[in-house]
Amino acid sequence: MDKKYKRTLVTTALPYANGPVHIGHLAGVYVPADIYTRYLRLCGEDVILIGGSDEHGVPITIKAQKEGITPQDVVDRYHKIIKDSMEGLGISFDIYSRTTSEMHHKTASDFFKKLYDKGEFIEKTSKQLYDEKADQYLADRYVTGTCPKCGNEHAYGDQCEACGSSLNATDLINPVSAITGNTPVLKETKHWYMPLDKWEPRLRQWILEGHKEWKPNVYGQCKSWLDDHLQPRAVTRDLNWGIPVPVEGAEGKVLYVWFDAPIGYISNTKELLPDTWENYWKDKDTRIIHFIGKDNIVFHCLIFPAMLMADGDYQLPENVPANEFLNLEGDKISTSRNWAVWLHEYLADFPGKQDVLRYVLTACAPETKDNDFTWRDFQARNNNELVAILGNFVNRAIVLTHKYFEGKVPEAGELQDIDREAMNEFKDVKETLGANIENFKFREALKDAMNLARIGNKYLADTEPWKLAKTDMARVATIMNVAMQITANLAIAFEPFLPFSAEKLRGMIGLDKVDWNKLGSIDILPAGHAVNKPELLFEKIEDSVIQGQIDRLERIKQENIINNFKPKAVGPQCTIDDFAKLDIRVGTVLECSKVKKSDKLLQFKIDDGMEGRTIVSGIAKWYQPEELVGKQVCFIANFPTRKLKGVESQGMILSAEDAGGRLVVIGPTGPVKPGAQVG
Ligand code: 2FM
Ligand code: ZN
Repeated sequence: MDKKYKRTLVTTALPYANGPVHIGHLAGVYVPADIYTRYLRLCGEDVILIGGSDEHGVPITIKAQKEGITPQDVVDRYHKIIKDSMEGLGISFDIYSRTTSEMHHKTASDFFKKLYDKGEFIEKTSKQLYDEKADQYLADRYVTGTCPKCGNEHAYGDQCEACGSSLNATDLINPVSAITGNTPVLKETKHWYMPLDKWEPRLRQWILEGHKEWKPNVYGQCKSWLDDHLQPRAVTRDLNWGIPVPVEGAEGKVLYVWFDAPIGYISNTKELLPDTWENYWKDKDTRIIHFIGKDNIVFHCLIFPAMLMADGDYQLPENVPANEFLNLEGDKISTSRNWAVWLHEYLADFPGKQDVLRYVLTACAPETKDNDFTWRDFQARNNNELVAILGNFVNRAIVLTHKYFEGKVPEAGELQDIDREAMNEFKDVKETLGANIENFKFREALKDAMNLARIGNKYLADTEPWKLAKTDMARVATIMNVAMQITANLAIAFEPFLPFSAEKLRGMIGLDKVDWNKLGSIDILPAGHAVNKPELLFEKIEDSVIQGQIDRLERIKQENIINNFKPKAVGPQCTIDDFAKLDIRVGTVLECSKVKKSDKLLQFKIDDGMEGRTIVSGIAKWYQPEELVGKQVCFIANFPTRKLKGVESQGMILSAEDAGGRLVVIGPTGPVKPGAQVG
């Protein structure tokens, strides 16, 4: 660490309590924050990990309205699911609280009041969208419409998810109320604004000059916002769910959720440490780190810091290591489309396998760019890395220690070059792994830890103690001493990443205490130290289990297609004469085969009640040729004859899309004479 700090405050983005947490949240925020905090704790530093649920905001009220329950019911339900599942995954929060707590309401309200009293807000009356039928102003997500920047027709009043632009509801083209579907009108209302333009020079100096070391994605986003220049931002809303604006004349108005949520970090620290919380926020020797996803950068790097500057008593974050997004099987994770692996479901489906998820999410964390989670990769990393490398080495080392030395770490004799080489390979692991964690390079740090196990495996494979056991037990003792020291190193190195397995491993080798300073050394376990019997650290995950998860996602995809399917508008009216022009008939498929040199085309021989005909159809992706033989299909008999890949096609077979986007051939529901006309 370049600079010495007395203490570290680690915060994690407060997830909205309108749904459970999924692997995207975990890979982006909670797993890296937990690794970082566990590492600092192991180093003996004063560090606290702060979390909690974000329980205000429009999405929560919309969900409540849809379900016919209160917003409080919604947040009670999800706060519990989120809190329990995070605990289940071993995210070691010192506190996980919520923004509906009394402490938070008071803290956020006081924060606003202090800024208000200092004259830090601009008061502005402006015209806002108003739903006359619902008798309600339409803030943020209560209104949808066309994005003025990219033309996306489903943009929200605060943001367009297609182009990422941050919007004002009044910017939307053709706005529609999400409550009634009505077109809103403009109506005057008063709000309080943070004059971000006032803080722009200081923010510029602080980030662009003072924090060039921030991750390029974070620095770049801040620079782009600052170069575009900051505008005053409303920090209050017309809404009946949230923290009431604590000034006269503000009845029916609440603090904007993005004003109160980051103050939640402060409230939760206060709740945890009522007497000493200020040390973590106001002392310049405290390092504050915000773990967030990339969609939260502007709030944590510009708006919240501007609020803290306006207050004047608080320290600014030292770093904001935001991650990019994790996709699932190639598609953007989405709560509303249920396209996610939900943590609470994972814990139920894979009991005892918390570390497998932690491992995979760290290995594929979107640290520098968006990344993809796939179930096949999950299986491969478990089977080929955790089982085959880490589990395998630990198991061999402990089994052999029992076999040859009655479960006691043998005394090492004189070292040979091969022993020194192995030790040399990991002697710097403490520094390299530590530096990677301190620089928020968790994927690299995990590789450093895994490399230790690789070194161990190679060492055993090269020294082959099982062969020497017949002739040279003194040499076997040295080898097994080294192997057990590597095992002990693994118990230390993996503690921040895989806490459940590290604990199990410590139990197996009788290591009571993890001392990070010992990492890289070869005298962790003294000669004669008793080792317990090995247990399996990881087990293979079978194909059928993975297929079950893939099938679940496939079902969701199909459901989404059905739910989102909107039939095209009916075309212009046709006349009876127009219809009569189309000669649609039923035929029976006599033969069907693939057209040579084409992935798309199938060639049919059709019994049309006359001399028979050949039709070529572009459905090879959806059907095996033999599937359709003997079936009856509808075809346009007077369709112009054309040549497709050298085959003359005399008509067109009719088909339509099913729920999965697959073309299905259309035919009669009962047997029909070949050649019969459809009409
Ligand atoms: O994007 C989100 O999920 C927000 N609920 C994050 C809030 S972070 C902090 F400010 F509380
Ligand atoms: Zn857009």
